[in-house]
Amino acid sequence: SRAYSTSRLAAIGLSTLLAGAVSAQTMTRDSGAPVGDNQNSQTAGPGGPSLLQDAHLIEKLQRFDRERIPERVVHARGTGAIGEFVSAGNLSQLTRASLFAEAGKKTRVFVRFSTVIHPKGSPETLRDPRGFATKFYTDQGNWDLVGNNLPVFFIRDAIKFPDMVHSLKPSPVTNVQDPNRFFDFFSHQPESTSMLTRVYSDLGIPASYRMMDGNGVHAYKMVNAQNQVRYVKFHWKSLQGEKNLTRAEAARVQGEDFNNLTNDLYAAIKRGDFPKWDLYVQILKPEDLGKFKFDPLDATKIWPDIPETRIGTMTLNKVPDNFFESTEMVAFAPSRLVPGIEASEDRLLQGRLFSYADTQLHRLGPNNQLIPVNQPLVKVNNYNADGAGDTGKRSGDVNYQPSRQSGSAVDDPAYKSVQTPLSGSTQQAAIAKTDNFSQAGSFYRSLAKQDRENLVGNLAADLGQVKDAETKQIMLSHFYKADVEYGTRLTAAVKGDLGDVQKRAQKLMD
Ligand code: HEM
Repeated sequence: SRAYSTSRLAAIGLSTLLAGAVSAQTMTRDSGAPVGDNQNSQTAGPGGPSLLQDAHLIEKLQRFDRERIPERVVHARGTGAIGEFVSAGNLSQLTRASLFAEAGKKTRVFVRFSTVIHPKGSPETLRDPRGFATKFYTDQGNWDLVGNNLPVFFIRDAIKFPDMVHSLKPSPVTNVQDPNRFFDFFSHQPESTSMLTRVYSDLGIPASYRMMDGNGVHAYKMVNAQNQVRYVKFHWKSLQGEKNLTRAEAARVQGEDFNNLTNDLYAAIKRGDFPKWDLYVQILKPEDLGKFKFDPLDATKIWPDIPETRIGTMTLNKVPDNFFESTEMVAFAPSRLVPGIEASEDRLLQGRLFSYADTQLHRLGPNNQLIPVNQPLVKVNNYNADGAGDTGKRSGDVNYQPSRQSGSAVDDPAYKSVQTPLSGSTQQAAIAKTDNFSQAGSFYRSLAKQDRENLVGNLAADLGQVKDAETKQIMLSHFYKADVEYGTRLTAAVKGDLGDVQKRAQKLMD
């Protein structure tokens, strides 16, 4: 309730007014004044029009008119939950990030699961990668690990992201998603083969957010107190196991409950069956980055055969009190890192470092970090100031730095970013080791017989709608190049011409 409580009045030094204070149950205007009638507008007599002087009516309509903010440009459909992360050990050899300083150290988290392409309110049963974003409220500021359920991405350079999303979003003419448009785009992106294969497997429709893994996808850097760097990939493993829906199951569930993922998660938390995930890292030394046939800083790649180390466990144990104030207004950004965790040179991640905080200036305004769900536990101490929604409660005359005045903020060289050796000239060129198909093939071959069949059926249902023969053949040739059996079965399923597919696959430079 927004009503002023006795304790709030006391807290702001108005306890002398308590005698005449409005009771906690009485409805008030935004200014705190009690409302006498919330059912009848003020009118000029029994038959006359409503009066401009009815400030309560006008305020109520004005606030209603402004209830919506822009939905996220992607990942609009989401579900949030509150929980706790517990470090598995003292990781100071690997990182000076304080949340990993000792075994058992607890850090509060807010997690938002999401679909990517479909709008706010769309069915949760639609095929899509799923977002898995975690905000850790650490004692050295907020760390956002903004990941997906799948371990790779469609593209490896941020410059392609807006075009990719345009092709996947509804057509600007019909307002309907159209495989002709997105396969037209993906036929120019052979590096998307691994991600498309995963999205069209049953992993593309999780049965439950509780039964879904998460992945940081990119390499990040972990840096210890001696400034030693290790490249790491993060992986959340569901302790509930993984469970997905087939196309037929999803169609049935969608008819019964298209909020199935939210309802499943919230019902489990409310009955005390708190879902848990272990967090793992894979670790590479900088000098080993060149030793693979692929580029480990390419977001379209997993790191096969690199062992995983468990670094903690997360439990989600609370449904937020209000959807808008938490799940809608939470702002995650891959650029929100803490000392000991830094961005890698991955070109997709580099674009994300800009894009999230930028869209949030538009979506939530310049003071979005003052919104309670986004506020760090530590006191924010800088001179970023003013703007719409500034409730920073600053005081003092010094709003610049450096200053000789006592109490002014000082920067501390202990927290400088690590130095990264670089060479070469500026350029605009594709990465050297593309290796576009082999990991898609390995994934296909890792699937059980029924899962392969489901993948081919799921993919053929969309690829079969593509009218342009060349687009269809190029797409088929990518899957054929990944694995001959996969490409051959898919070609048969969409009634394509295997001769053309083979010819195109042979021509693919890899
Ligand atoms: C949300 C951009 C790639 C995971 C968003 C948003 C933008 C965006 C603008 C909306 C943020 C907001 O309104 O608060 C991009 C760009 C990418 C990219 C430019 C590539 C260059 C990725 C990748 C992942 C990912 C590779 C997974 C590793 C997410 C998630 C959200 C999100 C989970 C939703 C966060 C939430 O729940 O609020 N992305 N994205 N994105 N993105 Fe990306």
